[in-house]
Amino acid sequence: MEPTQTMTPPHPQRPLPRPLPKVSSAVVGLQWGDEGKGKIVDLLAPGHDAVVRYNGGANAGHSVVVDGQRYSLHLIPSGILYPRKLAVIGNGVVVDPDALVREIEALEARGVSTRGLVVSSRAHVVMPYHIAEDQRREEILRGAGAQQGSEIGTTKRGIGPCYAEKAQRAGAVRMGDLLRPEALRERLAVAVPAKRLLAGLDDGLSEARLLETMTAFGDRLRDRIVDTAYLLNDLVRQGKRLLFEGGNATLLDVDHGTFPYVTSSACSALGIAQGTGVSSSCIERVVGVMKVYTTRVGRGPMPTELTDALGDAIRERGREYGTTTGRPRRVGWLDLVALRYSIMLNGVTSLAVTMLDVFSGFESLMVCTKYRTPEGETDRFLPDAYDLARASPVYVPMAGFAEDVSGATSRGDLPGAARRYLDFIEDFVETEIEWVSVGPERRQTIHR
Ligand code: IMP
Repeated sequence: MEPTQTMTPPHPQRPLPRPLPKVSSAVVGLQWGDEGKGKIVDLLAPGHDAVVRYNGGANAGHSVVVDGQRYSLHLIPSGILYPRKLAVIGNGVVVDPDALVREIEALEARGVSTRGLVVSSRAHVVMPYHIAEDQRREEILRGAGAQQGSEIGTTKRGIGPCYAEKAQRAGAVRMGDLLRPEALRERLAVAVPAKRLLAGLDDGLSEARLLETMTAFGDRLRDRIVDTAYLLNDLVRQGKRLLFEGGNATLLDVDHGTFPYVTSSACSALGIAQGTGVSSSCIERVVGVMKVYTTRVGRGPMPTELTDALGDAIRERGREYGTTTGRPRRVGWLDLVALRYSIMLNGVTSLAVTMLDVFSGFESLMVCTKYRTPEGETDRFLPDAYDLARASPVYVPMAGFAEDVSGATSRGDLPGAARRYLDFIEDFVETEIEWVSVGPERRQTIHR
């Protein structure tokens, strides 16, 4: 499928019919990111016509392994790995055009066609000064506040400053502005003097140079910058199936995550409508992706964190190092309190459980089912970082398994202890596990 919609529709078209066919799907991360969404999107993509990102930016990192080749994608939806699918970057995404062009070139160099890739003209642009500001803010925060400093531990991709600029409006640049030098010049005339006032951001900050670089990116991306809200609504009304791909994850959501240790966008399925311009009434199923354990990158509370050799072992077995930043991820036991909360927020219809193979060889496993807090025990998540930092996990011990499960093709192939672990999750969260991933390859997946 090729993009056909221009940035601005030339004339009023026939009214779009209603109601929307309910045939689209969403894939969302239920923990603090890196659950393996890329692989699940990649598996679901064949049944869909377009894969759509609705939030975040180059802070996200999706790894997909196809025929032994690993692809790391940040901005481009994983569905790009299927020829002739439309890959849409929606208005809710913040786009660093430099990172986007580099990602396009890297895919093309490996023989992956990116002809079906389009970007919303209303997506906000991560400017070089947003990246500088992200880095500078983190440095300042490190020296502020309590002993440990107050930095968020961001990916330093300019995500927060870009979303802040969007909220402030006046100097914000959107992808469509890259095609209109006059509009871009006006935006920069507002933004650049304000940025100069921020200490450390004045080096090399020139309106003329930014205008030149950004319009060059506009020229490079011209055919891809379109009104994706009309494009997607037309597709949905034609009965096409969209696959919405969440960036980051539910517990990093700016409203519902562990604030302030979150990212700056609406990461859960709740953000889909706003981040694409398509009503969520077109969504038939929401697949929630979770690992059999928990990881987190950056700062913020994580009740089940393991800071001992066991945590190190899981990190090494699971190759738990950031796709975007290479940082070692914090690792811990599965937190079912958090999971139940995420399932509730997203309206999850089925689960995809990943990394089961990492647990092979562990004698015993722990699962958190409640928190102990200064006010007593609770089975409800505490999304405010202040409260969550005061919660400690109450565990249910479970038997581990010695066998290698990476070749399992059905749940019946799994050792009894692994099956009981999965059954326990299903019973506790009252949601069916549809997929179990036992290795990075497409074929290493059990589908119920
Ligand atoms: P930011 O999104 O770069 O502002 O970072 C805010 C927080 O979200 C930091 O703790 C990051 O490590 C975390 N974060 C953002 N995106 C991802 C992701 O895709 N996976 C895991 N953590 C992420």
